[in-house]
Order: sequence, then C-alpha cells, then structure tokens
Amino acid sequence: MNCLALLGSPRKDGNTAALLASFLDGAASKGHNVRTVLLQDRKILPCTSCNGCKKDGKGTGRCVLADDMAALYPAVLEAEVIVHAFPIYWWSMPAQTKLFQDRLYALDYGLFSGKKMYLLTTYGGEDPNSGPGIVERTFRDICDFLGMEFRGSLGVCSGSLPVQKNETALLQAKQMGTGI
Ligand SMILES: Cc1cc2nc3c(=O)[nH]c(=O)nc-3n(C[C@H](O)[C@H](O)[C@H](O)COP(=O)(O)O)c2cc1C
Repeated sequence: MNCLALLGSPRKDGNTAALLASFLDGAASKGHNVRTVLLQDRKILPCTSCNGCKKDGKGTGRCVLADDMAALYPAVLEAEVIVHAFPIYWWSMPAQTKLFQDRLYALDYGLFSGKKMYLLTTYGGEDPNSGPGIVERTFRDICDFLGMEFRGSLGVCSGSLPVQKNETALLQAKQMGTGI
C-alpha cells in the first residue's frame, strides 16, 4: 500500500520523528511503500477561504495559492494510508499540521473515501493528559466526514523519558506500522 506520513514536528530528530520512524519501519518491513513529508520544510500558506478551489461546491484540486501544496495534493490522492504524526501543542495540533489540513479544503472530499488514517502523537505533560484524546477525537471526526477509516492512534508522553529511549513505545509504533 502507498503510505504517506506527514510529520508536523519542527524537530527532525525529536520525539515524534522517532515514533514515526518506528511506525514506518514496521510498514516498510511488510513491503508497503512509505513516504514522509516534513511539513516544516514545506512552504504551506494558510487557506484564505476564497473558495477559488471550488466548482459547484466541490473541490477542484487546484488552489489559487502558489506554494508546495500543489505538489502535495497528488501525493495525498495517491496515498491509501495517511499517517499524521505531531507533537501536541496547546492541547491541539501544531500549526504546521493545521496549515496542511486546512488546505485539503481544495480537494474533492469524495476522493478520500476508503483511505486509512493513523495518528501518532507525543506530548510533554504527564498522564493523565487530555491532549492526545482531544486530537484523536478531531481526527476521528475528520475521518467520519471524509469517509476515511480511522485505524488507530498512539500517544506517547515524552516528559520523563524521550521517545527515542522508550523501547515500549517504539515497539508499539512498529507493531502498528506492520498492521496497516
Ligand atoms: C509550543 C508548544 C506547546 C506545547 N503544548 C503542549 C501541551 O499542550 N500538552 C503537552 O502535554 N505538551 C505540550 N508541549 C510539549 C510537546 O508536545 C512535547 O515535548 C513533544 O514530545 C515534542 O515533540 P518533538 O520532540 O517531536 O518536537 C508543547 C510544546 C511546545 C513547543
């Protein structure tokens, strides 16, 4: 399967990157085709809600903003599995992820039907921590809206142990990746 991973952390060697790498190791070990996009490295402008992308109320896949989303739209449409990986920022997703997600407004929502989604998050505050549950709820609702299958989420606290050293979490991520 084609698996597109969207890393929303600005830290390329941080906790979230480590969790995602383990997930993708698992997926690649089963022969899946994996691709990672570091959202931080892409120029992604905020959606201006101009509706220039819509025709008869439907997304055309063409946004009037000239930036890196033009190249990312085909990658999203080709993906059978989408993995969002990001650190929790203020009980929510970081701006990098939100900018990307908002710009999916330009696509025909019908084209998401049947795609699978996984969610990987890391967070600093000790458990119990409501952040990961809040973003899981958000992405479950997005999946319901788009006809996507929300396949699972893994939230890991990095507060007392960096994810890079958290063997249990890395194994969980890998196992999740093997099962996509
Ligand atoms: C701007 C900012 C906001 C954050 N907000 C939260 C938060 O609301 N809850 C929490 O538990 N941790 C929060 N954190 C901590 C990060 O989620 C945590 O350190 C995460 O593991 C960092 O991942 P990274 O190494 O991939 O960047 C925040 C960190 C930053 C920089």
